Amino acid sequence: MKKTKVAVIGCGAIARSQHIPNYAKNPQAEIKYLVDVIPERAKELAEKYNVPYAITDYREILDDEEVTAVSVCTPNNTHAPITIDCLNAGKNVLCEKPAALNHEQVLQMKEAADKNGKILNIGVVNRFNTAVNKIKEMIDNGELGKIYHIYCSFRAHRSIPGLGGQFTTKAISGGGVLIDWGVHFLDLIFYCIGSPKVLTVSGGISGELGKDMKNYAYINMWAGPPDYNGTYDVEDFVSGYIRTEGPSISLNGAWAQNIGESAMFIEFLGDKAGIKLQYGGDFKVYTAKNGVLYEIIPSFQKADMFYEEIDSFLKSAATGVKTRANIDNVLTVSLVMDALYKSAELGREVVL
Ligand SMILES: NC(=O)c1ccc[n+]([C@@H]2O[C@H](COP(=O)([O-])OP(=O)(O)OC[C@H]3O[C@@H](n4cnc5c(N)ncnc54)[C@H](O)[C@@H]3O)[C@@H](O)[C@H]2O)c1
Repeated sequence: MKKTKVAVIGCGAIARSQHIPNYAKNPQAEIKYLVDVIPERAKELAEKYNVPYAITDYREILDDEEVTAVSVCTPNNTHAPITIDCLNAGKNVLCEKPAALNHEQVLQMKEAADKNGKILNIGVVNRFNTAVNKIKEMIDNGELGKIYHIYCSFRAHRSIPGLGGQFTTKAISGGGVLIDWGVHFLDLIFYCIGSPKVLTVSGGISGELGKDMKNYAYINMWAGPPDYNGTYDVEDFVSGYIRTEGPSISLNGAWAQNIGESAMFIEFLGDKAGIKLQYGGDFKVYTAKNGVLYEIIPSFQKADMFYEEIDSFLKSAATGVKTRANIDNVLTVSLVMDALYKSAELGREVVL
């Protein structure tokens, strides 16, 4: 089969660790362009992966008809404009998470994909995680019975990224721990339970730990070092309660907290069985039969979720067939995140 010619826009952390190596090892793909506004970033990776073009302006790829698939790996505020430009130029796009700054932008991206008849996938990589898919299968088969509640926790002791930089500047990121980490947890949950209609949303946020930037104590900082002249106007804590036509969902997230343990997990509570999934890891099933309580630890082979995400995008781009990471399947989460922020701002529940 003819190889798909690819461009990767943004050559920072996620492009370098996942997109570029996974295209490079996929027999179906050939990377033609690496793009970054910082020229050395694209150039260094182009040399490493033998990519012919390292450029700084993504608009140069728009007229190259050979390129049919593009990864957008730039900061959140550029996702919508770059993705829409690429779709309008007839490219298929895999855009990193969060899809955009807000739900309105996400709808504009979907509209551009529909209008141009192109594939738009979002980097909802947990949909390619083997443990997540085993849980989805168990839920679909009714093994948990009626699921009445899902609780998720994405809390860390000290993990505010790049204080003062793109992740803590709302105009660039769209928000803090909710849009950066919560988006993965909410997507995983809605994927597993089949996206029931959302009825009401109640949220609370605060940004107390990072706001006094110089006095924020930490040991390591990802996406650092801190820029004390930069901006910190996002939440480092979020809690929320979501009612749906199916199970209710509660969440508790923190980039930083004054509790010295991280808690990254999702609990699916059903009347026949419950599951606790350690985020990115294994899961345990709790059930009861004939008066006996069981705790089951399943073991299975695990796929490389980032390789699968990219492979699935390449297949979609080649065939035009939409798959689980398509924009059509991820609209609920941006709607819910907008509503959580809105509820926090209004100080009351939001009815959708
Ligand atoms: N799926 C995941 O688990 C995951 C993990 C990390 C990051 N991400 C997402 O990936 C995106 C990038 O995050 P990152 O950690 O790689 O950030 P990063 O800052 O390391 O990389 C972003 C790169 O984009 C470049 N850039 C900025 N504007 C550009 C433009 N207009 N054209 C070309 N290049 C441009 C920057 O110079 C930088 O090199 C974010 O949206 C983030 O949320 C997803």
